[in-house]
Amino acid sequence: MDCFMILLAFLTTCAGFKVTAPAGRVVAVRGQPAILGCEFTPDPTSDLSSLVVTWQRVEDSRVVHSFYFQRDQLDLQSPDYRNRTSLFVSELRKGNATLRIEPVGLRDRGEYLCTVSNNKGTDKAQVQLEYGAFYTEPRLSVNVSCSSITLLYEAEGFPKPEVRWFGEHGEVLSDHTEFREDAAGADGAMGLYYLKSSYVSPSSSLNVAFTLKNQLLNQDLLRPVSITYGGENHSCGENTRAISVLCVLCVLLFLFIIVLIVLLIKMQRRACRHSKPSANGTVSRKKELERLSP
Ligand SMILES: *[C@@H]1O[C@H](CO)[C@@H](O)[C@H](O)[C@H]1NC(C)=O
Ligand SMILES: *[C@@H]1O[C@H](CO)[C@@H](O)[C@H](O)[C@H]1NC(C)=O
Ligand SMILES: *[C@@H]1O[C@H](CO)[C@@H](O)[C@H](O)[C@H]1NC(C)=O
Ligand SMILES: *[C@@H]1O[C@H](CO)[C@@H](O)[C@H](O)[C@H]1NC(C)=O
Repeated sequence: MDCFMILLAFLTTCAGFKVTAPAGRVVAVRGQPAILGCEFTPDPTSDLSSLVVTWQRVEDSRVVHSFYFQRDQLDLQSPDYRNRTSLFVSELRKGNATLRIEPVGLRDRGEYLCTVSNNKGTDKAQVQLEYGAFYTEPRLSVNVSCSSITLLYEAEGFPKPEVRWFGEHGEVLSDHTEFREDAAGADGAMGLYYLKSSYVSPSSSLNVAFTLKNQLLNQDLLRPVSITYGGENHSCGENTRAISVLCVLCVLLFLFIIVLIVLLIKMQRRACRHSKPSANGTVSRKKELERLSP
């Protein structure tokens, strides 16, 4: 009977002790601390003296953080997590073994195991950590050429987003989008994609919208762009033709003026040659008159 009572007591305490992860999946955001929740049944009778908390990676059992003998025990901590982890020590008494990681990066993605034991029992719970970075405000550049307008948007974030360009009537436009992974991080990946998306409009007027959706972080960007310049009646090709025609006319006019000047000079010279003798002509005419007079 005694044995049965002891067994019953043991079973009830075991059944009474529970570790839970309130969020099975946590999304860590670049630039913000990652909070991995883990709660357990507290033991109000004993202090923290019997409490052992261990956070580990499921994939390879790396120790992320551990706490026992009433303090953090980091001798066995994986160097990957050095100086980046902490528990909320004042919360431990309330049965809260939540872990904080900061700064957080792409390599922190994965499964985490929270194991807790105290006088009441031992249990564990698992948390999955995802990683994302909000896309920066897209930077727009516009390239105008004779026959088209090119719009280019650039932004950085993680993971790869869904990018679409829409026309005036909501139709999907064909674009050119490329991603480059920023390979400057500790394990070869910084956790950022460099995005370049361009749309070429065949006309000199456009009214489109650029959209970017980062599904992991529920980030939705919509940037409308509306541009009109010149008009098809003043397209570049016609302009250059008009300019070249104008140039030819200028040259012709110039030549005409030169010819005119040359002609004028010649006529003046001829006029001079005729009028020079007539300068003494008054004399000769006088002589002539004298000769004519009887
Ligand atoms: C952790 O911090 C300590 C002191 O704050 C420093 O000496 C040590 O180099 C740091 N370790 C890492 C891996 O950054
Ligand atoms: C556990 O502690 C964290 C950090 O202080 C807090 O955000 C969270 O709400 C706590 N959980 C509970 C159940 O109190
Ligand atoms: C615009 O066109 C020029 C010349 O073709 C090119 O050098 C430049 O990179 C283009 N810029 C964009 C934003 O497309
Ligand atoms: C361009 O020319 C067309 C006819 O060829 C005319 O209907 C239209 O109004 C003109 N647009 C502008 C901006 O002058």
